[in-house]
Amino acid sequence: MRRSRFLFALSGIQACAAASKFWYENIKHNGISASIPNGNNWTVFRNVKDYGAKGDGTTDDTAAIQRAITTGNSASTRETGRFGSTGQPAVVYFPVGTYLVKATIRSAVGTLLMGDPLDKPTIKASADFAGAQLLFGRDKQFTGLVGFYHGVKGLVLDSTAVARTKAITLLEWSVSQNNILSDVVFRMPVGADGHTGIATTGLNSGLIMNELVFEGGGTGISLAATQYHLKNLVFNNVKTGVKFMNLLQATAQGLRFSSCSVGIDATVATMGMLNLIDSTATNTSALVTAGALSAGAVSGSLMLENIRVDGSTVRVSGTAVLTGSVEPGVSWIRGNVYKAGSTSPQLLTGQRVPTSRPDRLVNGTGFYYTIAQPTYSEYDVTQVINVKDVAQHPVAGDGVTDDTASLQAIVNAAAEKSNLVYFPHGIYLLSDTLFIPTGSRLVGEAWTQLSATGTRFANASRPHPMIQIGRPGDVGLAQLSDFVFTVADILPGAVLVEVNMAGPKPGDVALFNCHYRVGGARGSKTQTACANPQTCLAARLSLHLTQHSSAYIENSWSWTADHDLDGGSGTVYPGTAGGFLIEAQNGTWILGSGIEHHVLYQVNIRNAKNVFIGLQEGESAYWQGTGNKLLAPEPWSKSLLASDPDFGWCAVDSAMCRMGLYQIVTSSTNLNLYSSGFWNFVGGPTRAMCTADCQENAALYEGNSRMHVYGFSTINSKNLILERSVSASGGKGDVSVAAPRTANAGAVFDGLFKTGVVAAYLKMSG
Ligand SMILES: *[C@@H]1O[C@H](CO)[C@@H](O)[C@H](O)[C@H]1NC(C)=O
Ligand SMILES: *[C@@H]1O[C@H](CO)[C@@H](O)[C@H](O)[C@H]1NC(C)=O
Ligand SMILES: *[C@@H]1O[C@H](CO)[C@@H](O)[C@H](O)[C@H]1NC(C)=O
Ligand SMILES: *[C@@H]1O[C@H](CO)[C@@H](O)[C@H](O)[C@H]1NC(C)=O
Ligand SMILES: *[C@@H]1O[C@H](CO)[C@@H](O)[C@H](O)[C@H]1NC(C)=O
Repeated sequence: MRRSRFLFALSGIQACAAASKFWYENIKHNGISASIPNGNNWTVFRNVKDYGAKGDGTTDDTAAIQRAITTGNSASTRETGRFGSTGQPAVVYFPVGTYLVKATIRSAVGTLLMGDPLDKPTIKASADFAGAQLLFGRDKQFTGLVGFYHGVKGLVLDSTAVARTKAITLLEWSVSQNNILSDVVFRMPVGADGHTGIATTGLNSGLIMNELVFEGGGTGISLAATQYHLKNLVFNNVKTGVKFMNLLQATAQGLRFSSCSVGIDATVATMGMLNLIDSTATNTSALVTAGALSAGAVSGSLMLENIRVDGSTVRVSGTAVLTGSVEPGVSWIRGNVYKAGSTSPQLLTGQRVPTSRPDRLVNGTGFYYTIAQPTYSEYDVTQVINVKDVAQHPVAGDGVTDDTASLQAIVNAAAEKSNLVYFPHGIYLLSDTLFIPTGSRLVGEAWTQLSATGTRFANASRPHPMIQIGRPGDVGLAQLSDFVFTVADILPGAVLVEVNMAGPKPGDVALFNCHYRVGGARGSKTQTACANPQTCLAARLSLHLTQHSSAYIENSWSWTADHDLDGGSGTVYPGTAGGFLIEAQNGTWILGSGIEHHVLYQVNIRNAKNVFIGLQEGESAYWQGTGNKLLAPEPWSKSLLASDPDFGWCAVDSAMCRMGLYQIVTSSTNLNLYSSGFWNFVGGPTRAMCTADCQENAALYEGNSRMHVYGFSTINSKNLILERSVSASGGKGDVSVAAPRTANAGAVFDGLFKTGVVAAYLKMSG
């Protein structure tokens, strides 16, 4: 697919952009910013060459690239905060080429920096590069914890021209949820100790980085974060692949180290729990180096599963404590383990424990299925439908016009022809369900918004989907990428997405970089009408995976707002009853998820089978907890569904007990749940900071079998896990505390907060 660059250069029409075959480079770009004044005239797509970049490997392109990022409109540039976080969407696009830069490039909120995936362009630091970072990936107005809406994909970042003796970080990436870091190569000189691929510093709450390659350098990733899912990362000739600077809970899946000195350096004292699965190391002296396991305040918990190595596997203080591979069928665990039949945890210091993976979830060699996020670069532009460029079915995407009927007609026609459907950035209002038939591939642009409106979604007792992927029994393909699903109004019956379809292959039904947002942004009445959760039953559910569905979900943040992304002041307390409801039996893969601030539960798995979760980060609603009078299931008690918890195990007046659970798992089987990270920092209507036990219970497990839980960490929960029995007829026993924090105390986090950590919970694994 490589074009001949020479031909164009020779004929002197190099500036003519009609060169790459990549559909996105060539399609009509008519995205808008629907929520700012004069937003129809907002430039979403920015080809850096249109801003003066040459990409010839010799011209200094620093200023041109920065201009492409920073340019706003006649009212303001983009780095001022004037447009909020959601009002200044931009895709800064790099055609094939090598872009030489001499100083740090700064990103801005709402920006996806994206290269042509057919021949990834390179951003290259010059030999005389001045600055500590090649790319500062986060808008400087935000700290890491509120660094949302940034992206980098399809690029090569290169420091090979910079002296080995210098210190440089290719990508500063102290960001949190709703970001994309995918398909990037970090190219550094071999042996250059001061060169670091990615660095995160301070406090961050990131979800996932995926499909990255690191070549050379001293450190691939220097990572400080509450949690992360690292997926399919390759490290060649990097001295240290991943160096943790602090961590509560992470999953590293599909990491491949070759000719490194250390794969993962987990020696830092503030190291919570790491799950390392489906990974390999060759010619690497240690896959993992760790500090001593400290009991009492457990730090340094580890779980390794399906690991192939030719050197030492885990080394503690210079001594190999594990060598050789960890074959399928066992986990090697260091930390607190609840074995089947035991009521108290056992502190394992590094032992093999039997495990199993459901056939449905793994490939022929026992690895969990993973799928690289599609770019659809195999599509010709003629096979792609821009929804705002179909004459018979006008679509506005302006946050005012009802686009339901036109979009349905376009999506239906596209599915029949297997066309790709492109939604230029905007806010597309849906007054009824948009049905996604088999054969659908939908892509957004810098987080295109699909937003529910109207009476169809108004009845709390009759949930109604905004996006419905297939009907029960449908088998086929439906993939959605880069959307935000939201509500334009207070809609107690709105289910943002319902999946019914199963794919013939894992990943055929998939949601990539698709997020759920209720409140806290312009373009919705929930931005200003939700000071009180009692009067703001803003949505029912984010995502419902129904019984026959089978879906692969990578990088998703389900966020009921706790603050206003667009700078509005005042309290933001919309109430969404639930986050993810999983009743699917036919194979579910959830990678890199954050599910936050829903009233009754964050994730509810019931009557489900064959579920893999790689990371579930969670937070409770900030207004719940001590001092709150609206006790769960309020304000939803008048419209509870059979799937909702009734909190009957709590005293009627217990504000600490009557808080949304992070995870409920009921009558389900074949579950492999990794890295549950459940955090609570503030509580009650005044959001008082809370540093001890702020929430009574984190999770409730009832009547499950073949359930394997690896890495369950909390901040400020009195109990990690509750259990109760379920009889064959569905009758439930009494709730009892199965894993209290006192028996699983972790290190104090950030000098303040009480943590709990269980390395493995296998009581229901039989
Ligand atoms: C639209 O934006 C361009 C570029 O910023 C500007 O020159 C032009 O005046 C704007 N038009 C309107 C109607 O605002
Ligand atoms: C093994 O890795 C070292 C660097 O750690 C490298 O110098 C050496 O060439 C590698 N050997 C092979 C056989 O790849
Ligand atoms: C399973 O996945 C792993 C990791 O992607 C891969 O190396 C292996 O070849 C796959 N096995 C089969 C049978 O496809
Ligand atoms: C809301 O839905 C419930 C359950 O379907 C139904 O009984 C009730 O009549 C509906 N309320 C309204 C106002 O439509
Ligand atoms: C599960 O999905 C497969 C396709 O992968 C489909 O053929 C089958 O009917 C589904 N089974 C159920 C119980 O939904």
